[in-house]
Amino acid sequence: MDAEMMRVVEISIPGGPEVLRFSQRPRPKPNAGEVLIAVQAAGINRPDLAQRAGVYPPPPGASDLPGLEVAGHVAALGDHVEGWRLGDPICALCNGGGYAEFVTVPAGQCLPLPRGYSMAEAAALPETLFTVWGNLFMRGRLVPGEVVLVHGGASGIGTLAIQLARGKGAHVYATAGTAEKCAACERIGARQCFNYRQEDFVSGLRTMAPQGANVILDMVGGDYLPRNIELLAEEGRLIQIATQHGRVGSLDLSLLMRKRIIVTGSTLRPQTAASKAAIAADLRQRAWPMLESGEVRPVIQDVLPFTAVVEAHRRLEAGAHVGKFVLAVSDHPTSQGNPEISP
Ligand SMILES: NC(=O)c1ccc[n+]([C@@H]2O[C@H](COP(=O)([O-])OP(=O)(O)OC[C@H]3O[C@@H](n4cnc5c(N)ncnc54)[C@H](OP(=O)(O)O)[C@@H]3O)[C@@H](O)[C@H]2O)c1
Repeated sequence: MDAEMMRVVEISIPGGPEVLRFSQRPRPKPNAGEVLIAVQAAGINRPDLAQRAGVYPPPPGASDLPGLEVAGHVAALGDHVEGWRLGDPICALCNGGGYAEFVTVPAGQCLPLPRGYSMAEAAALPETLFTVWGNLFMRGRLVPGEVVLVHGGASGIGTLAIQLARGKGAHVYATAGTAEKCAACERIGARQCFNYRQEDFVSGLRTMAPQGANVILDMVGGDYLPRNIELLAEEGRLIQIATQHGRVGSLDLSLLMRKRIIVTGSTLRPQTAASKAAIAADLRQRAWPMLESGEVRPVIQDVLPFTAVVEAHRRLEAGAHVGKFVLAVSDHPTSQGNPEISP
């Protein structure tokens, strides 16, 4: 392959995992304020599946290639980038384009590889970490001693949320859909995980914490909205980060007023570079020590070769996993060849 070219995974047409195709594209060049990363590992997230299916288009100006988080080495620097040198190990929140051998990222969204981390572990961090941190702590203002409920506790997002919240001194509860997933959530720090297929999380959590939850991190939505509102304590905060059960739910406004509840939420990708950089700065100062001490560690279900991207999407979609899937993109930034994708 031409040294100026790189292997990428494209979404050929909107659809199932089989629409992912390897292709070649010119290596991107960093603009002012950007870092070019030679990607070694790329994390996979549920939003990638939504983008592939055609229901979560990239924001204007972002790469059309999937991939929101990577780890690798600094391969080039745009003008006015300070604090990084060629060859530095790095991980980054991408605006897209992470399923590729090279990607350009605004410098403010780059962070050093946490000490002691492999490339695969570091690649599993940015999308989940920025999302959890920005929502639980910056938006939700979770503080030590508060009760937090993490729905979808066994997901990539959930496994990190449980550990970070526990590390910050919160009393953490979770929901998940199987006994095995519940056990995994309890192993990483949930006081109790409710199997939502078998028990009512509202009454379950009230048995443990009669005042209810101070904060709920919810990726379910729809019919969970009234139950979340019922479960929140006075001055409670509901933080919505996805709507797997639907975008619309019924809200009892009198309960909202009586308990002085705040309903909020966010999606990470459309936020400005400045807002992502502000989260990154907070992470570097306050989360990196927790990552490097081992108090918090990403849970990785599997690391698959780059060529197994279709299988990785199938497995994430099937939903039997705990934590994250990561693609091992390249050991050598200039790796040659253009393999077929394995099914
Ligand atoms: N707002 C943002 O900026 C942002 C950023 C990244 C991701 N997200 C969203 O966050 C969610 C997690 O992302 P991910 O990449 O970590 O995906 P993931 O690992 O595939 O997780 C999806 C999780 O949803 C859980 N779930 C589905 N229905 C549930 C229910 N009724 N009650 C409790 N849990 C339920 C599943 O758990 P069970 O199998 O146990 O049901 C699964 O663990 C996704 O919905 C994603 O779109 C949002």
